[in-house]
Amino acid sequence: MSAQTFPDRFVWGAATAAYQVEGGARADGRGRSIWDMLCEKAGAIHGGHHAEVSSDHYHRWAEDVALFRQLGLNGYRFSLSWPRILPSGTGQPNPAGLAFYDRLVDGLLEAGITPYVTLFHWDLPLDLYHRGGWLNRDVASWFADYAELVARRLGDRVEHWMTLNEPQVFVGHGHYDGRHAPGLKYSLGEMLRCAHHALLAHGRGVQAVRAASPRPARIGFAPMGFPKLPASDSAEDRAAAREQMYAVTEPNHWNLTWWADPVLLGHYPEDGLALFGKDAPKVMAGDLEVISAPTDFLGLNIYQGSVIRRGATGRPEVVPHPPGFPVTGFNWPVTPEALYWGPKFAFERYQKPIFITENGLSCRDWPSLDERVHDPQRIDFITRHLRELFRALQDGVPIEGYFHWSALDNFEWADGYKERFGLIYVDYATGRRTPKDSYHWYAQVIASRGRAALEGTAVDAHAHRFDAEHAAALRVTAPR
Ligand code: FCB
Repeated sequence: MSAQTFPDRFVWGAATAAYQVEGGARADGRGRSIWDMLCEKAGAIHGGHHAEVSSDHYHRWAEDVALFRQLGLNGYRFSLSWPRILPSGTGQPNPAGLAFYDRLVDGLLEAGITPYVTLFHWDLPLDLYHRGGWLNRDVASWFADYAELVARRLGDRVEHWMTLNEPQVFVGHGHYDGRHAPGLKYSLGEMLRCAHHALLAHGRGVQAVRAASPRPARIGFAPMGFPKLPASDSAEDRAAAREQMYAVTEPNHWNLTWWADPVLLGHYPEDGLALFGKDAPKVMAGDLEVISAPTDFLGLNIYQGSVIRRGATGRPEVVPHPPGFPVTGFNWPVTPEALYWGPKFAFERYQKPIFITENGLSCRDWPSLDERVHDPQRIDFITRHLRELFRALQDGVPIEGYFHWSALDNFEWADGYKERFGLIYVDYATGRRTPKDSYHWYAQVIASRGRAALEGTAVDAHAHRFDAEHAAALRVTAPR
């Protein structure tokens, strides 16, 4: 069999978000965000953790970029901190905040790494929350002004932009179940109004970046993908999975199409409108034109998928994972086929080039006695997922890149530092970085344009090499 590789121009990336990695929360004039507020609320965050220092990327970015370069990344997805750039959300920008992103972008470009910039990864300036936050329709204008400012400043060097990260999560967790900042439990109708304003902000952001960027911009957004996996090869199960992936079936925010249809098809899905009824948002004339301002790609964040079959009633139904099914540190099921069906079904509906803007897992990683961080499960997880992604590519789905979540361990929102998602281990007490086994392995995958993962040789070879090294360090005999 001839050697298989991913396309030459494939983007091998890793991702982070400002609030999760930067720290420097009070440095150089940064304003406060809704997440700073939530972190101060007793019981809101696991262990009372906060992100004042976190992975300290704000101060250690140069070391991090050097590690990304050694890893061989050709793309790095990160977000800008709105309150670092505009401490009050609107008005006077903070020169030191803008200068930080200048340095980071320049550093990445010097390292040969293309920046993929997310404008909003959940850290709304606190002052905007006090002005009504996402419930206030003006948020779309505030966001557009912010987008214009940063596109004008960075758009001479940044070509790829994403407006919103996972609107489903920051709107829903933030304003419906209250798990995330700002910690509200609004009614369904109020939550959907926030959602409408978030979509308007996306559209206004797209228009602003295009208009203000000194060079042509490529723009998309990065919703959660919610892949549905057919339970069998049968045509019925496949159709059931497709139907379910495109469906809005529950009165909440957990679906793809309520968010992606308006952006990419120019209307809310009929089943959602019927289900939400009087709770559906008031759509003003022109809103959907703004929301569906043309974009260039679709980002999909995919961590897991659910298995669907055609039920006895003819309706799609969820097939529960069997007892003992593999799960990650977060207890998320390991379903590599999500990287096949997710992009495949999304492309069928939306016909846009796709980036996997996030995919990864948390493991219970720690430095071993040999001072290395051994994370074979991350190696296996990425291998399996890349193989499925490759299948989708072979089927003709235009997938342009893969961003592993995350480049380095960081603050995992309400779960604090409990969950480690990084390719690079961070010792939060000292800030010290240790590339994990998966980092070294991903470097081989990138260098071989994916072949190492597709053929599995690197995994096996690497695993054995680490066994031997590990054993030597512990002065025991390596098993044969
Ligand atoms: C996604 C978020 C990202 C990170 C991963 C684990 O939902 O976009 O910030 O927390 O989950």
